[in-house]
Amino acid sequence: MLRTDLLCARRCLSRETGVVEIREAANADLAAIYALLEQAGLPTSDIPASNPRFIVLREDGNIVAVGGLQPFGSAALVRSVVVAANRRGAGLGRVIVDELEKAACAARIDRLILLTERARDFFAHRGFQVIERGDAPQEVQGSEEFRALCPDSATCMMKVLTESA
Ligand SMILES: CC(C)(COP(=O)(O)OP(=O)(O)OC[C@H]1O[C@@H](n2cnc3c(N)ncnc32)[C@H](O)[C@@H]1OP(=O)(O)O)[C@@H](O)C(=O)NCCC(=O)NCCS
Repeated sequence: MLRTDLLCARRCLSRETGVVEIREAANADLAAIYALLEQAGLPTSDIPASNPRFIVLREDGNIVAVGGLQPFGSAALVRSVVVAANRRGAGLGRVIVDELEKAACAARIDRLILLTERARDFFAHRGFQVIERGDAPQEVQGSEEFRALCPDSATCMMKVLTESA
């Protein structure tokens, strides 16, 4: 389980964007999360069963970036990382990945795994390394994303988390 207390809502004021909030998603956020994922062509069909922990970034009340963590023991699948098309390139994706890493560390997760078709270089920038799909932890390979939703052509990447990271 993630320690939600470490993910308590944080607010700050940004000169450029107004009120920005980063927090763990609530049920009421799911419709907006699904909409962002669908717009980006990312899978949603397994979300009810896999129940990932989502982190959302809101600007002036609108969810503009999302990322999910699906734990499997000491590893977790990073999934559903998306920034609204009109807000890309402003550092929001980086913020979401940083928050997912903090949440993972708080939950004593030491390895993050992901599959990506289009954002390999973005995740490489964030310290993820390409691995063979078969080298991912067995439990993660059993996830719906690995088994059915992401094509064989997707790149598998891993990041080992350290206390100091
Ligand atoms: C991938 C995605 C989340 C990046 O979000 P973003 O907010 O545009 O990225 P950021 O502005 O935070 O960029 C952070 C860094 O990554 C780089 N970067 C961003 N997108 C990149 C890409 N597609 N390829 C290579 N580098 C990229 C930026 O130049 C920036 O570099 P810096 O740290 O040196 O300044 C966003 O493009 C997106 O939603 N894509 C569609 C959905 C998707 O493919 N998600 C991944 C599935 S798991």
